[in-house]
Amino acid sequence: MNKQLDTLRQKLAEAKLGGGQSRIDAQHKKGKLTARERIHFLLDEGSFEEIGALVTHRCTDFGMTEQHVLGDGVVTGYGTISGRLVYVFAQDFTVFGGSLSETHAEKICKVMDLAVKNGAPMIGLNDSGGARIQEGVNSLGGYADIFYRNVQSSGVIPQISAILGPCAGGAVYSPAMTDFILMVEGCSYMFVTGPNVVKTVTNEEVSSEALGGAQTHATKSGVTHLVAANDVDCIHKIKQLLSYMPQNCMDTVPNLPYTIGEEFREELSAIVPENANQPYDMRDVIKGIVDEESFFEVQEAYAENIVVGFARLAGRSIGIVANQPMFLAGVLDVNSSKKAARFVRFCDCFNIPLLVLEDVPGFLPGTDQEWNAIITNGAKLLYAFSEATVARVTVITRKAYGGAYDVMNSKHIGADMNFAWPGAEIAVMGAKGASEIIFKREIESAEDPAAKLLEKEREYAETFANPYRAAARGFIDEVIEPRETRRKLIKAFAMLEHKHVDRPRRKHGNVPL
Ligand code: HXC
Repeated sequence: MNKQLDTLRQKLAEAKLGGGQSRIDAQHKKGKLTARERIHFLLDEGSFEEIGALVTHRCTDFGMTEQHVLGDGVVTGYGTISGRLVYVFAQDFTVFGGSLSETHAEKICKVMDLAVKNGAPMIGLNDSGGARIQEGVNSLGGYADIFYRNVQSSGVIPQISAILGPCAGGAVYSPAMTDFILMVEGCSYMFVTGPNVVKTVTNEEVSSEALGGAQTHATKSGVTHLVAANDVDCIHKIKQLLSYMPQNCMDTVPNLPYTIGEEFREELSAIVPENANQPYDMRDVIKGIVDEESFFEVQEAYAENIVVGFARLAGRSIGIVANQPMFLAGVLDVNSSKKAARFVRFCDCFNIPLLVLEDVPGFLPGTDQEWNAIITNGAKLLYAFSEATVARVTVITRKAYGGAYDVMNSKHIGADMNFAWPGAEIAVMGAKGASEIIFKREIESAEDPAAKLLEKEREYAETFANPYRAAARGFIDEVIEPRETRRKLIKAFAMLEHKHVDRPRRKHGNVPL
């Protein structure tokens, strides 16, 4: 027995060493942790149980029979984060560059299947040179097996991908189909074709970092949701993100204990400037409403004219979508519509109530927007709100103009409670533009057209640039003082806690992709 135990212990020790000490040292030298170190920092102390540590590849080509490494380049298993079950895979760059073989893929698929069957989040820590070149189509098949599972798991369990090294070629499509992607500054990159292929095909000279580094995907493409300074920071952000999510689509997020008090926040009254054309930071409004230090923004540097993120309100997890008057006056455009739509759909998948803070002057005009399909992309956000069955509450802080009024979680598309601050302007368009159209003749024939325009502008603004027309119709449930917003929202979301909506039976809707 002793000999058998020795053999087992020896094998497990060998598996733990992955590609060997020199490759581990090389990994550290790049400022990266190893797969096992990452799992160690991610999961609660002592909670990790490994699955498949003794798996080896089956490849016999290119001398691979002589090169077997136990575990085959990926560490898989389960454990807990803050006591809650999660499944995890971490690619081990020290073994064949973390490249994906048939068996490596099988190990990932095994934990993905367990995650769905047991209703717990799946976390992928990616660090891989892509398809195991020695395995050819077996590797490609392995990728497709993972892609298929990503889609079957979508909306069933939260899926999170951290990119902690290379992620190139078709390999990018697994993270792309998960709910959130995190990247590390300076050492992770994602692209479908690398700089060499780009040079050959388009003659562009571009570095890996510029083509698909963390900053590129955080600002230009919006592919990544969060950027971390290093591996440890990235792991910390994964844990924060998970704290706002339920385990699966049938579950809800545990509420933190909270006793409701007076909840007045006087500072909210001083945020919106007197002049309607002056910007302000919608994050100040968010911070004035939610529990202290609880706002966790995602996709912060992409489409900055809309802010999305999670927060807690009286201990309850909520998703926030807010126009940002600081950028492009908070207008809706192609990128902000896509960003917000995906976030709304995530929250709806996982029973996270939605709070919308609205100050929107309309959709961004221009050929660039039209040619990039603002019609289809704006429709994504409209569709996402309209199909969402979670509790949905809107607060109009200032402007709610035109089609954007309808889109931003209006009563008409199924919002549950719609509040407006007294300075809200809910109309087809701004007073100046409206007056120039409907009083065109009167203004042109006036002795002093400029004075006439001002007079008509004032008249239009008095009639329409307020929340009372909408309130009279019941499109706004209540006009509230800014300082009582937090209290009103706490009560509204508590009132909506058991909201239930049945939709007509169908296979699935046809979202304008
Ligand atoms: C097998 C690989 C590998 C791969 C790296 N290695 N990539 N082995 N298949 N895809 C091995 C190397 O041979 C080396 O082994 C070790 O991993 C580390 O690689 P290095 O090149 O020394 O590391 P580094 O300099 O950091 O460069 C990392 C790298 C580079 C940029 C990822 O290795 C690279 O370009 N690899 C090939 C990437 C690629 O073309 N993959 C296929 C993409 S197509 P030793 O023994 O020396 O330590 C694809 C299609 C997927 O993935 C389609 C899905 C639908």
